[in-house]
Amino acid sequence: MERRTFLNIGAGLGSLAIAAPLRAQFIPQPSQSKEKWAVLFATMYGTTRDAAAWVSEGMGAIADVYDVRKPPADIAAYDNLVIGSAIMGFTILPELNKYLEANAAKIKGKVRGLFVVCGNLRNMPGDEQVKTYIDGILVKSAGVASSVPRAAFGGRITKAVWDPKVYKDNMDTYAKMGVSTDDFDNLRRADCMKLGAEILAKKA
Ligand SMILES: Cc1cc2nc3c(=O)[nH]c(=O)nc-3n(C[C@H](O)[C@H](O)[C@H](O)COP(=O)(O)O)c2cc1C
Repeated sequence: MERRTFLNIGAGLGSLAIAAPLRAQFIPQPSQSKEKWAVLFATMYGTTRDAAAWVSEGMGAIADVYDVRKPPADIAAYDNLVIGSAIMGFTILPELNKYLEANAAKIKGKVRGLFVVCGNLRNMPGDEQVKTYIDGILVKSAGVASSVPRAAFGGRITKAVWDPKVYKDNMDTYAKMGVSTDDFDNLRRADCMKLGAEILAKKA
């Protein structure tokens, strides 16, 4: 690559860094439907962000995808919502819980799908995790019936993104439990896309 081209790209990225929001924004595809969709997710280390983008892809990528720490200015502008959370300490993330409580009236009747992402000690989650984390916790926070399409996805351990305290605490816990401390990645894009397709089909 010529140096000039490289510099131009560099300048472009520089201005992007100033103008862009902090979260990685996902610009949706135009939708045939007039209805507006948003996927709202809570993550600590990014697994649930990836799940949210892939759920949206399964819907034809028509949804705006928001980190709950940077929510839309007006959630009431959306007709349909999908909500997902990482599981930590056996529950959904507190930021999501707070947001759902504060916006209960605006999201009422609009939640079309739910998901959680859980490490589950390296095992793929199944019906038990759906029951515990979605039917037992997330449906209540989101104020919906447990009959909306829903799924529990496998999580990740990525030690490189843990802050030092989390790193030490988790390493101590895993050592005590005698489980592996190696990184793993059990999130499957196909599972996320399948849920997205199911949500869209049920709404149609
Ligand atoms: C501090 C901490 C607590 C966790 N607690 C649980 C838990 O209670 N149950 C579980 O299945 N996974 C647990 N996990 C694993 C996470 O669910 C997994 O790492 C997931 O991919 C995190 O999602 P995120 O990257 O979107 O934050 C925990 C992970 C961390 C770092």
